[in-house]
Amino acid sequence: MRRGQRHKRFHLRTFGCQMNQHDAEKMANLLHHEGLRPAADAVGADVVVVHTCSVRERAEQRLYSELGVLCALKQQRPDLILGVGGCVAQQEADGLLARFPGIDFVFGSQNLRSLPAMIRAAGEGARSLRVDYEESDARFDLPERHPDFGPRSPGRAFVTVMEGCDLFCAYCVVPRTRGREISRPANSILEEVRELASKGVVEVTLLGQTVNAYGRPRPGRAPGEVSFAELIRRLAKLPGIERIRFTSPHPLFMTPELEACYAEVSELCPHLHLPVQSGSDRVLERMGRRYTRARYLEIVAGLRRARPGLALTTDLIVGFPGETPEDFEATLSLVREVAFVDSYAFKYSPRPETPAVRRGLSPVDPERAQARLERLQRLQAELTERAHAARLGSLTRVLVEGASRHGGGQQTGRCPEHRIVNFTAPQPVPAGVFAEVRITSVTPHSLLGEATAQRAGENLEQLQAPRGPAPRELQLPVV
Ligand code: 5AD
Ligand code: SF4
Repeated sequence: MRRGQRHKRFHLRTFGCQMNQHDAEKMANLLHHEGLRPAADAVGADVVVVHTCSVRERAEQRLYSELGVLCALKQQRPDLILGVGGCVAQQEADGLLARFPGIDFVFGSQNLRSLPAMIRAAGEGARSLRVDYEESDARFDLPERHPDFGPRSPGRAFVTVMEGCDLFCAYCVVPRTRGREISRPANSILEEVRELASKGVVEVTLLGQTVNAYGRPRPGRAPGEVSFAELIRRLAKLPGIERIRFTSPHPLFMTPELEACYAEVSELCPHLHLPVQSGSDRVLERMGRRYTRARYLEIVAGLRRARPGLALTTDLIVGFPGETPEDFEATLSLVREVAFVDSYAFKYSPRPETPAVRRGLSPVDPERAQARLERLQRLQAELTERAHAARLGSLTRVLVEGASRHGGGQQTGRCPEHRIVNFTAPQPVPAGVFAEVRITSVTPHSLLGEATAQRAGENLEQLQAPRGPAPRELQLPVV
């Protein structure tokens, strides 16, 4: 860039799951390599990209109202470049270009690498559509982190290990938007994590739509070089990696080998988000989930034998077509039996071209579904409170993320069980560093505590390396 020439500014708006959030990080990094820099909002940007989610109808509707606002902005500033990516883009494709004349380009999740080219084309007045499925693993080849691109939170990183889904659950749009299951070569994952660790990352979250299907043998295809469990074992051996998480697993791929990792790999965090969706065998069968209630409970028992105290969270759908009051009672009883620490419950939302919609199944009456959702949420609130209360007075190790949004000098981070811990400390603990915290009170959503001694070891040194050597051990007074 010539002197005096300003960087173009981009603004990314992201909806949806962690896969989408991570895709947005990948796009932001690509744009840094293209010489663009972030803008705080759409008004201050030359390029606005909306990254979309279509898992439920509500998210899609929010997107349409947002696109209306952005297209109005573009009418005032015709040089604004406007793109739409992600799952709705994949699903609606040229329909979006037709409906919103202000949109310059539309691209699917597998076409992130085309972003710079689409922006250049838009600068020359051309509209583009890139929603082709990429069958090869070339889509995982993305540039290294640009030096000006700050991490989401120092100390933590997402790492894609697989993409897509081949299971076609009856309610789910994902196989259509994210395409077929494909695993990333193990060496490239190990290389990325080694690199992240050298920059001070201590916690990695492995991502994939059915993440534990990673490397699984399938008819007609060569199995991956390593299984998901073996991948975890290898990652755990990398120097500097202290915490490993993954999301979202499917119960079908909770193998004995993976269960054993909970006993053998101390870096694997004592938390698992294992979506169950329903506690009724009839509904599970109609959803095409491929496991029974008994099998799910057996997995939970196996995991808890391997790792006593494991915190479990889940996703649930109420009002799936044909769900009777008895089916719903079975979901409540399963939630009670497992005692999930938290759950995300959703009302069934019919999605285009999913098996349930193609079969012409009609959803449960909306008011009934709403009442079920509220009962489920009340039960979960009780269970969460109970789980939180059980931690009063205990010590935990928090990976610090920064200042808490509650203010008051509080800081925030996550404990190994992935609960939010807000805490006070005699002096601020840098983000990306571990703090030892005693839990002094709890709320329905988080744990509250006080930092005791701060164990700021090796990772503080790595985080601060560019600014000179850091103290190896930083002790705070015990409070
Ligand atoms: N309706 C309601 N909830 C859904 N989910 C996925 N598809 C639908 C749908 N059509 C929920 C599931 C999944 C989570 C990410 O979103 O619970 O685990
Ligand atoms: Fe939404 Fe599913 Fe796409 Fe994630 S994969 S963005 S949850 S539709």
